[in-house]
Amino acid sequence: MGVVVVAAGSGSRLGADRPKAFVELAGATLLEHALRGVVAAGVDEVAVVVPADWVTQAEMVAVAVVGPAGPAGPAMTVVPGGAERTDSVAAGLSSLSEQVHHVLVHDAARCLTPVVVFERVIAALARGARGAIPGVPVVDTIKTVAPDGLITGTPSRDSLRAVQTPQGFRRDVLEQAHAAGVPATDDAALVEALGHPVLVVDGDPRSLKITTPADLVHAERLLAAGSR
Ligand code: C5P
Repeated sequence: MGVVVVAAGSGSRLGADRPKAFVELAGATLLEHALRGVVAAGVDEVAVVVPADWVTQAEMVAVAVVGPAGPAGPAMTVVPGGAERTDSVAAGLSSLSEQVHHVLVHDAARCLTPVVVFERVIAALARGARGAIPGVPVVDTIKTVAPDGLITGTPSRDSLRAVQTPQGFRRDVLEQAHAAGVPATDDAALVEALGHPVLVVDGDPRSLKITTPADLVHAERLLAAGSR
């Protein structure tokens, strides 16, 4: 099992002086928290994708997480990302070895994702799913809205899920999905567009994507309350 950890976003909505993945949460960077979760999930290879100027810094974080030799841990590679998230995923994907047949794509910004969520996705792939992603029910009523502000629909809440990462796929399916080079906010959308079935497994509220300063405060509270 290989994992692409995408951490090459600027995180401008966080208002920090550095890329989001290098912002600290309770004494460790978001990237370090994220990599600890990935390592705990027991995967074989990890590609960490960061802004080009931050590769050395990320290599130090990777060593801190798996140790200098890392014989017991996964092989970690750090590669520079691209302008869009999709470019960053593609960069990580192409750096995984040929031995990797299943890939998880994980946002570093979802740095407190519990190991059990990784396990659910991995288990679905092991049962033969071409794609499996975590999702949680939505609490708000969702409207679709036209550019002029008028509501065009109210989908039934029962059929809606807010989706998270890690998103897991058969490698050939994910590569096929990325070959089109179309930007997307998640990888499942690219795989769905090709007509492949993608399964939703239970996500977790602790997998929140840290985006704003309020999310950082929330994440600090979760850690203080014993998450991880
Ligand atoms: O911007 P957003 O929070 O939606 O990004 C989700 C994840 O994708 C983050 O972990 C971010 O670092 C990553 N990303 C990336 N390359 C980009 C944009 C986002 O690796 N060009």
